[in-house]
Amino acid sequence: MNVLLIFAHPNIDSFNRAILDTVETTLKAGHHEIITRDLYGIDFQAALSREDFTKLSPDIAREQEHIKWADALVFIYPVWWWDRPAILKGYIDRVFTYGFAFQMGPEGATGLLHHQKALVIQTLGTAEQTYDENPGAIEAVHRSMSEGTLEYCGVKNVEQLLLFGIGASTPDDRGLLLTQVATVTAKAFPGIL
Ligand SMILES: Cc1cc2nc3c(=O)[nH]c(=O)nc-3n(C[C@H](O)[C@H](O)[C@H](O)COP(=O)(O)O)c2cc1C
Repeated sequence: MNVLLIFAHPNIDSFNRAILDTVETTLKAGHHEIITRDLYGIDFQAALSREDFTKLSPDIAREQEHIKWADALVFIYPVWWWDRPAILKGYIDRVFTYGFAFQMGPEGATGLLHHQKALVIQTLGTAEQTYDENPGAIEAVHRSMSEGTLEYCGVKNVEQLLLFGIGASTPDDRGLLLTQVATVTAKAFPGIL
């Protein structure tokens, strides 16, 4: 399967980077083809500009080619302010354009993306228990990406993995979480011969 990884974290020694490494290793072991778009690494221009409404700029055309190449999408990012980092939000704003990712008709919106699957891996600084004490908070974190973006654009099967409590996690905790990341990735993308 052709899998496009979209990664949004500024620090190369972050836990998110370790997650990216784990997902890449797992997918390669399963003989999948992968392309990683490291949004900070490519210095992605996040703000939707006036020009973006009138013409397709080369950086967006390039990202759309990557999306067309992929059978499946993986997103890896930390939760910032109950949401996606601005660079990833801007990627969605600019790359998931009208006529490419969705269109409107008499019946409403139709998704135009053909991907069979998306895996969304998000890390959270706060413990799960803290979120549990605040009804609706977890939904707020994941619905903008699942229902609000990917499913709206036609992606069939959106799986979310939320990794809580990274702020107070020990190296052992992180090791266990990376094992969980590898297991979830291998299950979502079974190996091909
Ligand atoms: C700007 C910013 C906003 C954040 N907002 C949240 C938040 O809303 N909820 C939360 O649980 N953690 C929040 N955090 C903590 C990050 O989610 C946490 O540091 C990250 O998931 C840990 O992974 P990392 O070590 O790879 O950065 C925030 C961190 C930053 C820098």
